[in-house]
Amino acid sequence: MKIGILTSGGDCPGLNAVIRGVVLKGTTAYDMEFVGVRDGWRGVVEGDFFPLTRHDVKGLSKVGGTILGTSRTNPYEGERGGAVNIAKTLEAAGVDGLIAIGGEGTLAAANRLANDGINVLGVPKTIDNDLRATDYSFGFDTAVNIATDAMDRLRTTGDSHKRCMVAEVMGRHVGWIALHAGIAAGAHVICIPEKPMTMDEICEQVRSAASRGRAPLVVVSEGFTLAGMEEAHSHKGLDAFNRPRLGGIGELLAPEIERITGIETRATVLGHIQRGGSPSAFDRVLATRLGLHAADAVVDEAWGQMVAMRGTDIVRVPFDEALGELNTVPLYRYEEAAALFG
Ligand code: F6P
Repeated sequence: MKIGILTSGGDCPGLNAVIRGVVLKGTTAYDMEFVGVRDGWRGVVEGDFFPLTRHDVKGLSKVGGTILGTSRTNPYEGERGGAVNIAKTLEAAGVDGLIAIGGEGTLAAANRLANDGINVLGVPKTIDNDLRATDYSFGFDTAVNIATDAMDRLRTTGDSHKRCMVAEVMGRHVGWIALHAGIAAGAHVICIPEKPMTMDEICEQVRSAASRGRAPLVVVSEGFTLAGMEEAHSHKGLDAFNRPRLGGIGELLAPEIERITGIETRATVLGHIQRGGSPSAFDRVLATRLGLHAADAVVDEAWGQMVAMRGTDIVRVPFDEALGELNTVPLYRYEEAAALFG
């Protein structure tokens, strides 16, 4: 059996560990052959494949990014796009099936292709941890570690200058990175999209920390919106590709906090640093296990499904179950952390 592996959408620490896991299991246990697909669905549509052997994946579990490259191409667009053309392209290259490693958009495209008869299975990835069917997605732990380390650093400079420090983290429409990094770093305010807050509420927590002699540390998720200001926030506009343009909220909050509390305030946007570099040990293990199980799923011809983490087990979930509603932070998770802010 010859299988194509692709990574699509935004990159994420652990992608290479998945690729290594698939290739090692597939070649040793099942005598499979692999091709790498360049730049996600673009490579599928254009038949841009190259051989991928055990030798090519040596030492990859600790390497950030993706050796395959990635893109946000829609496989249904363009002259050579669509399931019928893709089936011909795969057949011409002798490729029997695809493993698509990606987030919501990638898995939605994979689902449509699977429904149109293409042999494809998925491996979920996202630093945002916003996919419903997997308890954790690889990349998330690394992003939380990076954000926590950054906030630890912001705290010492904040303490020295008696400033309020605001860290803006990624997460798209969900607040998992902010919540976990906020708890880990001991933030005094955690702002997440699932729990809109007013400026007064934020400033009250800032003042309370300052009154205890602490330099207030605020973590804000890029998708956060002030209560009552949902429509007015410019950071919720659409970009040229019709995707919600996020980010910038930290820089909006900082001057307001300073104006209202009188405490000098600085904002830091962590941005893509949260996605770059080597994956954490947790993400290496999770990504590797997903890769190993994806090879098993190929043998079982479990097309139209993705491998996922449930508890400590790796299971298979139909694409349909995995897509749709996002895995948002439940309010009780925010509220249990609220005792820390007091
Ligand atoms: O989905 C992962 C993510 O890093 C989000 O947290 C962030 O909003 C987005 O991707 C950034 O996308 P891009 O790399 O296209 O700027």
